[in-house]
Amino acid sequence: MTVQIVLCESVDHVGARAADIIEARVRQGPAVLGLATGGSPSSTYQELIRRHREEQLSFGQVTGFTLDEYAGLPKEHEQSYYSTIRREFVDHVDLPLERLFTPQGDAADLVAEAERYDAAIATAGGVDIQILGIGANGHIGFNEPTSSLASRTRVKTLAGATRTDNARFFPDGDVPRLCLTQGLGTIREAKLAVLVAMGENKAAAVQAMVEGPVSANCPASVLQLHRRAVILLDPAAASRLSMLEYYREAQEFNDQLGQTPTRPWLQEPALQQG
Ligand code: GLP
Repeated sequence: MTVQIVLCESVDHVGARAADIIEARVRQGPAVLGLATGGSPSSTYQELIRRHREEQLSFGQVTGFTLDEYAGLPKEHEQSYYSTIRREFVDHVDLPLERLFTPQGDAADLVAEAERYDAAIATAGGVDIQILGIGANGHIGFNEPTSSLASRTRVKTLAGATRTDNARFFPDGDVPRLCLTQGLGTIREAKLAVLVAMGENKAAAVQAMVEGPVSANCPASVLQLHRRAVILLDPAAASRLSMLEYYREAQEFNDQLGQTPTRPWLQEPALQQG
């Protein structure tokens, strides 16, 4: 079990470090990626697209599972997470569309759809790298505060704060009230979780995730129990961490030893931060 905190200089640096980790795994052969939407992974996807175009990084052997989806929206809806992940990433690389999966938001039986999706991830061999952002209230995926730390993919009610945060994407103001999301127990099963966070408005959630108790009140804190989590932060997102100097020092030692999270597939870090 390790949690590695990587302090980055900028949003682009976060994206580059996350892309390094993903590239190392994708170049090894068939891989299953868990794909988050939202603004946070944007610099990661941009960098992966650049490497695809300029450095022959192929996603031809990748299978993608989105992290979550709005309930009630058909796949084709502009704001569905299926459309979003295509627009932001998949349509710009060679990941075969027949291997891009999302929960079906407009399924007649949402409860059964959630169970089917959870099982489909397991059938694919599980997620190799789960890319994650974090909500200002500490949510990951759409696992709002008080989500069960052992939860599976299921139907959830969106918190008012999340609907307000995401209202910018729905000009008609009609933000869905329900969603389907991979559960915290599902996310925990990913072989590696890579969480990216940037900006001052994430600083309190990041502090609670890393330094607070493992608590359903901050769903992202479940990563403290993850077998391998890498948390990449820009300076603003890291600004409220009380042990910042300690993380910086550990990172320097890891860098000196060549034990960076760049190639977690090939080596375990000698020094663990948590
Ligand atoms: C959304 C998504 C999450 C995302 C989070 C933060 O509601 N369901 O997967 O990580 O909120 O979004 P952003 O990265 O845009 O701040």
